[in-house]
Amino acid sequence: MLKPVLKRVAILATIITILANIYSYTYPSFNPVNCSWNCFDTTTEEPHLEGGIIANLPFYINRYVNDVIETHWNVPKEQLSQKQRVEDVHIMALGDPQIKGVWHNTPYISRLDTFGNDYYLGHIFKTMKQRLSPSHVVVMGDLFSSQWIPDSEFYNRTRRYVDRLFKRDTSLIKEVKSENHDPNNSNLFIVDWGKWGDNFNKILNGNRKDFNFGYKDVKAWSPEEDYVFVNLTGNHDVGYSGDATYQHLTRFHKLFGKDNFWIEYGTNTDHPWRLVVLNDLLLEGPALQPEFIEYDWEFLRQLKDQNFTGSTILATHVPFYKEEGLCVDPPEFNYYPEVWEKEPYKANLLRSQNHISENTTNVVFDMIFGNGQPGMVLVGHDHEGCEVIYNRFNSNDSWVATRDALPGANHQIQEITVRSMMGEFYGNTGLVSGHFNEDTKQWEWKFTLCPFSIQHVWWFSKVAAIVTLFIWSAYFVI
Ligand SMILES: *[C@@H]1O[C@H](CO)[C@@H](O)[C@H](O)[C@H]1NC(C)=O
Ligand SMILES: *[C@@H]1O[C@H](CO)[C@@H](O)[C@H](O)[C@H]1NC(C)=O
Ligand SMILES: *[C@@H]1O[C@H](CO)[C@@H](O)[C@H](O)[C@H]1NC(C)=O
Repeated sequence: MLKPVLKRVAILATIITILANIYSYTYPSFNPVNCSWNCFDTTTEEPHLEGGIIANLPFYINRYVNDVIETHWNVPKEQLSQKQRVEDVHIMALGDPQIKGVWHNTPYISRLDTFGNDYYLGHIFKTMKQRLSPSHVVVMGDLFSSQWIPDSEFYNRTRRYVDRLFKRDTSLIKEVKSENHDPNNSNLFIVDWGKWGDNFNKILNGNRKDFNFGYKDVKAWSPEEDYVFVNLTGNHDVGYSGDATYQHLTRFHKLFGKDNFWIEYGTNTDHPWRLVVLNDLLLEGPALQPEFIEYDWEFLRQLKDQNFTGSTILATHVPFYKEEGLCVDPPEFNYYPEVWEKEPYKANLLRSQNHISENTTNVVFDMIFGNGQPGMVLVGHDHEGCEVIYNRFNSNDSWVATRDALPGANHQIQEITVRSMMGEFYGNTGLVSGHFNEDTKQWEWKFTLCPFSIQHVWWFSKVAAIVTLFIWSAYFVI
């Protein structure tokens, strides 16, 4: 009596498991328009029949199947780019992963949640990377969920970030740890921020070119890789300027690289472009370490002094100034109170900001986009995502953010707030495609957002597999 019932349940569970896993492993194929690099010269196919999803079902199925076949069994993408003189730029932008920590008093259920979340985020990256072979991967800051963590926890999260989320080689960070640890316990990562700070101040007060902000034509940081991996600083990684300490900057620099740099590509060709990575948390104060602000502006001055003639992609964490209502976060600045007993030395310092101020936005945009070339700004921070246009008016030297381009503007730049890759925002990947238009001799940039789904769907696909296995075992045992 029990056996036939069990068999039916097992078959049903098997089917559900297979469907959930097919979805989870091929989700971009359900949405190929948003989940592919933008082909600038072909019009993407859209459903054409009236009557919604049902009438167009054959179209969707056909598109899905073709996409799966193309992704897993064909390599037409490379053949396509060989025909072009100038290779397209393919940037994957991942918004605010904000991974949480596990402490000795964390309940087991939250530990499991955090553990699963690492692999959920890793699944998104792996799927999208395999599908799209990006030239650049940029994580938009707020890599971790809090700036108030000790060095050892910072290291432990970095290890998860490198290993579970981005499937990278951990030997480099292990090497950093072997050189920076507690003298009595080699397991406890500790940075010598005094030493780092001395060197920082030596350069700041000496030859500032020694910051070595600039790179040229970097295709990868190591020979084993075929893409450029970039980590941005977020307020949760290094703090707002009223919080940021030498300790914060030291450990970020040791494990994630520079917070300010540029890479120029094809400088002396007819198609130059550059990626600018800016730590915009240190643009404004009052700061705990005012020399950090000086350092940020030194970076911008050196960047401007390059007299670069090409197109620019600017990647930074905090969005630029815009009026309330355009995006989810309104402009907002908080300062520590005059009397702040917990940390009296922070009185009046900048405690948080949703945007860069209006004045600083104008100055920074002029310094970076002043050459009048097309470009794009990528930011994170607000989690929800947003797209606006900055219109520059030469009549009053200002950049005005609007939803749609304003007529009569002298120059326009799009700003994309990349929607977060966290599960509650549906695990997004932002895709920036750059194409050099041979007719206009200018770069064109397009952005699309490829969502996965809430983390429960991914969890379900895993749990369903385990349950199914369990039911089949029960069936064979009894
Ligand atoms: C980080 O991991 C190491 C090794 O697993 C462990 O000894 C250490 O206590 C961890 N740090 C924290 C803050 O939990
Ligand atoms: C970003 O961090 C990862 C992990 O530590 C590292 O492999 C990579 O080189 C970093 N990127 C830069 C530009 O330093
Ligand atoms: C950029 O132009 C300025 C002013 O003409 C000049 O002083 C500077 O040397 C130039 N920079 C480079 C890198 O050529």
